[in-house]
Amino acid sequence: MEKGAILWFTGLSGAGKSTISKLVEKELKARNRKVEILDGDIVRTNLSKGLTFSKEDRDTNILRIGFVANLLSRNGVIAITAAISPYKAIRNKLRDMYDNFVEVYIKAPLEVCEERDVKGLYAKARAGEIKNFTGIDDPYEEPDNPEIICYTDKETVEESAAKIISTLEKMGYLTK
Ligand code: ADX
Repeated sequence: MEKGAILWFTGLSGAGKSTISKLVEKELKARNRKVEILDGDIVRTNLSKGLTFSKEDRDTNILRIGFVANLLSRNGVIAITAAISPYKAIRNKLRDMYDNFVEVYIKAPLEVCEERDVKGLYAKARAGEIKNFTGIDDPYEEPDNPEIICYTDKETVEESAAKIISTLEKMGYLTK
């Protein structure tokens, strides 16, 4: 069985986590790998229904996603997680818990994410209709040493996905 991995995406809302995860999934499936995406929005309507966006609940959400990603990855699956995961300490806790943890910082300046405003949530956060919105009135702590950084304001989705694929090859999670 090929070695599974936890491909942990982190980054602001609108940075491109979901978009890149879908392209990486497609590429991995084309190489006959088993893949699951644990997307923040979907997890929060199922596994984490009822959790708020307080620090405590966000950390609970992240630990749950990590728990499921580990169950999958130990069975050879490449589990891609796409939640904001704004807190460094809880991400580093997952890194300590799981030896196949690969952190991918999906990076775009706040101004760019806000300009994109795919879901219209930044406008609502600026208007005060949503409180504790990451990047506006809630923190986002950048990773210190992520295995991969995708600069989505400068790279195409294809370039970002290719970077991830080649790192997985280099790390031995994917055969060339
Ligand atoms: S996390 O902080 O716990 O990792 P998660 O990725 O699951 O966050 O959920 C983020 C998504 O929830 C955003 O993409 C957005 O659609 C929505 N959302 C609603 N309220 C907030 C908020 N206060 N902060 C960030 N995202 C929010």
